Amino acid sequence: MDIISDIKEMRVRSEKARNSGLSIAFVPTMGYLHEGHLSLLREGRERCDLLILSIFVNPTQFAPSEDLDRYPKDFQRDRDLAEKAGVDWIFCPKAEEVYPADFVTYVDVTGELTNVLEGASRPGHFRGVATVVTKLFNIIRPHIAVFGQKDFQQLAIIQRMVDDLNLDVEIVCKPIVRETDGLAMSSRNVYLSAKERQQSLAIFETLCNVSSVVRSGERSAQAILRLACGRLAKEKDLVIDYVKCCDPVSLHEVEKIDSDTVMLVAVKIGKTRLIDNHILCQEVQIQ
Ligand code: PAF
Repeated sequence: MDIISDIKEMRVRSEKARNSGLSIAFVPTMGYLHEGHLSLLREGRERCDLLILSIFVNPTQFAPSEDLDRYPKDFQRDRDLAEKAGVDWIFCPKAEEVYPADFVTYVDVTGELTNVLEGASRPGHFRGVATVVTKLFNIIRPHIAVFGQKDFQQLAIIQRMVDDLNLDVEIVCKPIVRETDGLAMSSRNVYLSAKERQQSLAIFETLCNVSSVVRSGERSAQAILRLACGRLAKEKDLVIDYVKCCDPVSLHEVEKIDSDTVMLVAVKIGKTRLIDNHILCQEVQIQ
């Protein structure tokens, strides 16, 4: 497994691989890998000849008040996990090279897809994501790029951006991977104290409750949201940011639950913000 930090070297290597007929799978991450990332890597490994993982904590997607400086990092551990997962190349560019001092060009997916949910709570976040993902796609030029359903809105925005800008890459989505007790895996889970970790289970319990009520026939989004908020509100230290039932493509809120309606949840427990989601008509799976 090779580790590449130079943008030009990455571009040249990728281009050579492409020209020699190899298919390229790409998994972009900010590191501190967990089982969720590994499921993305497994998908990429199965589908393509060459598997490239990027590890880059992207400063432009963090607001000044957010956790850029304390974002968890463990390169040695990531490297071992990547090697075991069959990664061919890790691309870990330096922030100064990705964003030189004279950098001024951003990719902004405008409109309702980016203004709502995470976009409403984290202004500028998706501009940073769209910009870095476009740059990574341009450098690596993968055939497929694998993302997790956990960041549902991110995935919808990246798909929109790929369609709108005619980017030549297939976006592949992998389901959320959960801890054995149901908490969606996230690099940020390490911030939770033991008590907060316990309280965080309310999110999974809520998703399970509402999806079972939907499967037994309830179709009113209002009733489902009341149920979900009622359960989450029982957790004293949990602050709800949003709980919404949305169309999975436009992310518009719906009044009537359909077979593909997604419930999206964001809460804050202590200093940690957690997000989760679930397609309501399906059984919630622990993988
Ligand atoms: O999902 C993430 O880890 C990040 O938003 C991504 C896609 C790697 C861009 O920095």
